[in-house]
Amino acid sequence: MDVLRITGSQPLEGTITASGAKNACLPIFAATLLTGETCVIENAPDLSDVRFMGKLLEALGAEVERPAPNTWRITAKEIAHRAPYDLVRKMRASVCLLGPLVARMKQAEVSLPGGCVIGPRPIDLHLKGLSKLGCEVEVKNGYVFVDAKNAHGGHVFLGGRHGSTVTGTANLVMAAVMTPGITRIESAACEPEVVDLCKMLLSMGAKIDGVGSHALTIEGVERLGGTTFRVINDRIEAGSFLLAAAMTESNVRVEGAEAEHLAALLDKLEEAGLDYSIESADAIRVRGKPGSLKPVDIITLPHPGYPTDVQAQMCTLMSMTPGLSIITERIYPNRFMHVPELQRMGADIAIEGASAIIKGKSSPLSGAPVMASDLRASAALVLAGLAATGDTWVQRIYHLDRGYEKLDEKLRGLGAKVERLPDSEMPKDEDTAA
Ligand code: EPU
Repeated sequence: MDVLRITGSQPLEGTITASGAKNACLPIFAATLLTGETCVIENAPDLSDVRFMGKLLEALGAEVERPAPNTWRITAKEIAHRAPYDLVRKMRASVCLLGPLVARMKQAEVSLPGGCVIGPRPIDLHLKGLSKLGCEVEVKNGYVFVDAKNAHGGHVFLGGRHGSTVTGTANLVMAAVMTPGITRIESAACEPEVVDLCKMLLSMGAKIDGVGSHALTIEGVERLGGTTFRVINDRIEAGSFLLAAAMTESNVRVEGAEAEHLAALLDKLEEAGLDYSIESADAIRVRGKPGSLKPVDIITLPHPGYPTDVQAQMCTLMSMTPGLSIITERIYPNRFMHVPELQRMGADIAIEGASAIIKGKSSPLSGAPVMASDLRASAALVLAGLAATGDTWVQRIYHLDRGYEKLDEKLRGLGAKVERLPDSEMPKDEDTAA
């Protein structure tokens, strides 16, 4: 297994570009099952999760080709309606197959995806939505069985105790676009990734009103056609780069960063006193300055609130910003696996319920061997390593490779010292003991 060695405290300089958005691309891949015609998906990030979704579609019977590194051509002429456990368990986003299978095959058997390190991730709202469309839904032997032969439009309230559901909305929209009648979804998620999926469906001939709002009205059509569609850039990756520049006090231009998608993060960075400017619709420049930041409090919320997927990275920035800040998780109350690892690097953070109480320091963090747990926690540790003194060794980087395309290569382009090495290169305890 590989590890990353990051030799920190190097100033970054130059331009870095965010790739296509993983969380837009995965449901968009699933949506290609809605038609027997060819869909060409451009700007798909080259990530293990995306390649895995390609394999899933192939396993269901689709013809899947990659004419170029970030372009996929998918033709789902004849497909099966069963997605088995040994495939689905490897990636939670496989649950997005449910909606298209219901719409196209009028039946689906999809294994429940199972546990996740960031906390419980139920799909009760997905199933409630399908029931409201007249589907018969049963959970048995670890599978969701859906019989949709009598499905029809319906009125669905999709909000839960943590707000709207992103993949739940994606599933229900994909189910409704080819279900006869009118479906109205209230408390729909309006994340840019959901908007992107809706745009792709519109380009295939779907009828959806209210795209980008919390109330969607969908008129089911008999069939959808093929499309050529370009996935949006990854706002979470772009946001991670902005935070990397802030914490290394560097001058960096981030391309593929749409300010419109990053409003909540930019608002907090402004409040923290970061000098940044929006140079174009998709480029933001950060001019980090030593000692210029002050702490901010944050609560993660569904879009357009502060995204949970850049909570860990902000936690890292606040741990090196002198003063007290409180970061509260409202989406995944247990998503703080990065905290014990940041503590190993010298951060002063206490967890109280769903909040991290951070006493930011004026001295830098110090490099240490750390363990990546989930995707965003891993990114937070890489960023911490960039700003820390000495070497940080990030283990289990397969988490990073699920969601950040060529992160080490991109950071090297800014002058960062980041190497991908076999774990046998890691210093043994006796090499580092004082
Ligand atoms: N929830 C329910 N019932 C449901 C569905 C969700 O109670 O049926 C709860 C969840 O437990 C959570 C909250 O509602 O507390 C929000 O969950 P949501 O369904 O919106 O999350 P998701 O669709 O499973 C997507 C992203 C996540 C991102 C969340 C929140 C994809 C593939 N995943 O997950 O991305 O954190 O939305 O924005 O789109 C990541 O990229 O690292 C990642 C975890």
